[in-house]
Amino acid sequence: MKIMITGQKGQLGTEIQKQLRLGKSEIGPIPGVLKGAEVAAVDLPQLDISRLGDTVAFVEQFHPDIVINCAAYTNVDGCEVNHDTAFQANAVGPRNLAIACERVGAKLVHVSTDYVFSGRENGGVPLDEAAATGPISAYGTTKLLGEKYVEQFCRRAFIVRTAWLYSYYGKNFVKTIYNAAKKTGKLQVVNDQLGNPTNAVDLAHVILMLAATEEYGLYHCTGEGICSWYDFAAAIVSEGGADALVEPVTSVRYKEMHPESADRPAWSALDNRMLRCTVGNPVRPWQEALHAFFLRWDGENGMKDE
Ligand SMILES: NC(=O)c1ccc[n+]([C@@H]2O[C@H](COP(=O)([O-])OP(=O)(O)OC[C@H]3O[C@@H](n4cnc5c(N)ncnc54)[C@H](OP(=O)(O)O)[C@@H]3O)[C@@H](O)[C@H]2O)c1
Repeated sequence: MKIMITGQKGQLGTEIQKQLRLGKSEIGPIPGVLKGAEVAAVDLPQLDISRLGDTVAFVEQFHPDIVINCAAYTNVDGCEVNHDTAFQANAVGPRNLAIACERVGAKLVHVSTDYVFSGRENGGVPLDEAAATGPISAYGTTKLLGEKYVEQFCRRAFIVRTAWLYSYYGKNFVKTIYNAAKKTGKLQVVNDQLGNPTNAVDLAHVILMLAATEEYGLYHCTGEGICSWYDFAAAIVSEGGADALVEPVTSVRYKEMHPESADRPAWSALDNRMLRCTVGNPVRPWQEALHAFFLRWDGENGMKDE
């Protein structure tokens, strides 16, 4: 079994490699067929997935059974100004991987986002895989095109939409809030955008579960339960034991304070319906997964017992 991972230095890419190395995640064993797999893990500058020739050549040479695409340009505000970079990483890159996977008969697991939704409709009802998309940011627009290319060019594909992702590794909202809380003692966080915080442990576990099957298609995979960024920040401060005051602000007020920031969906809570209907849904409630994170996080860029 050969597995190629792109974006290997990122939050998700690092967690997936760890689970493959250990043969298990914090929530259970990985599928037996993936244990002992030969892994080729790549990132910039070794392989830029927006270059078709390089991507096809790498895939043809390694000849993986499975490609897991964790590469993306994930700076949501940055995508608004660096539109070509976003397009290359989030749309052209997945297209190239899809073409390459189809050539060698590999499965492709591609990761996408809740920001493919507008958040203006369906308030109160979690969005399942049948919900209509309508991105309102450059990040969401480019990620949606990436999904379409994967569907168009690769027959053995899984598209897995996640949201509000955090991990022991890399930069994320949990670490930013925790560090800011310790430093400033006071934070203002948006309270009228709702979604699902997702621990990369759970997402990586699900991706490996799916990759071992032929249950191709579109999946939502987010932490169970819904909250606002403000609720999430308050839980981070409480779990992390930081002594700080968290104040709610509206999106309108936040935009006034940060006019350069991208618009984000007011409602992007997802329903993991396809997981429930196929391989099962092992994803933890977001509060439980956040609690587990703070038990093991080393305070910097890894785990205490690594
Ligand atoms: N983070 C979230 O909250 C979130 C939410 C929803 C969905 N997602 C999706 O989940 C997936 C994993 O996200 P993540 O948070 O683990 O991402 P991440 O930590 O930002 O890692 C992405 C990696 O991809 C690399 N990369 C960027 N452009 C590339 C290119 N053209 N070719 C090859 N590699 C490239 C990045 O390198 P550089 O750092 O050098 O650019 C980085 O190492 C992505 O598909 C993302 O869109 C994330």
